[in-house]
Amino acid sequence: MAVREILRMGQPVLRRRARPLTEAERTDPALRTLVDDMVDTLDAAGGIGLAAPQIGEALRLAIIRVPGGPSRYGELESIPLTVYVNPEIEVLDRITQGFWEGCLSVPGLRGWVERPRAIRVRWLDLDGEPQSAEYSGFLATVFQHEFDHLDGHLYVDRMTDMTRLVFESELDTHLGS
Ligand code: NI
Repeated sequence: MAVREILRMGQPVLRRRARPLTEAERTDPALRTLVDDMVDTLDAAGGIGLAAPQIGEALRLAIIRVPGGPSRYGELESIPLTVYVNPEIEVLDRITQGFWEGCLSVPGLRGWVERPRAIRVRWLDLDGEPQSAEYSGFLATVFQHEFDHLDGHLYVDRMTDMTRLVFESELDTHLGS
């Protein structure tokens, strides 16, 4: 168990397409260690998702944990800590919705991003079992943001109005203007 350094925008690994985990890698005990490190790192940083490239591992692997209940994004369905191996997203509804996104690799900033509002996610769990789930609303954005990391994309790439890239500390001021 270890808290790893979260790489910030500018590190090349954040801009590379990560590769899928092989069957051998998925069953290697070293994967559990990597996942434990990701969980420790996410806990220390206080986010809701972390992708392996953010700690320098160019693998299609991410973890997400969403505490349920009221939030700045409205009432959220909770997602217990889940490990996504080789995940894929299918867009179910191309109509977009926007949220203020933040990223542990782009600390201190928030940006307004519009993304498709309903998706299906498919992935392998740590036992190699195929899983799938459908999400809409803010959770659809969470998955698209996290899995974008596996393709070398950061949320800023998805912005269409750069006047809506602001420091988190100024967000309330911006919204009040
Ligand atoms: Ni991120």
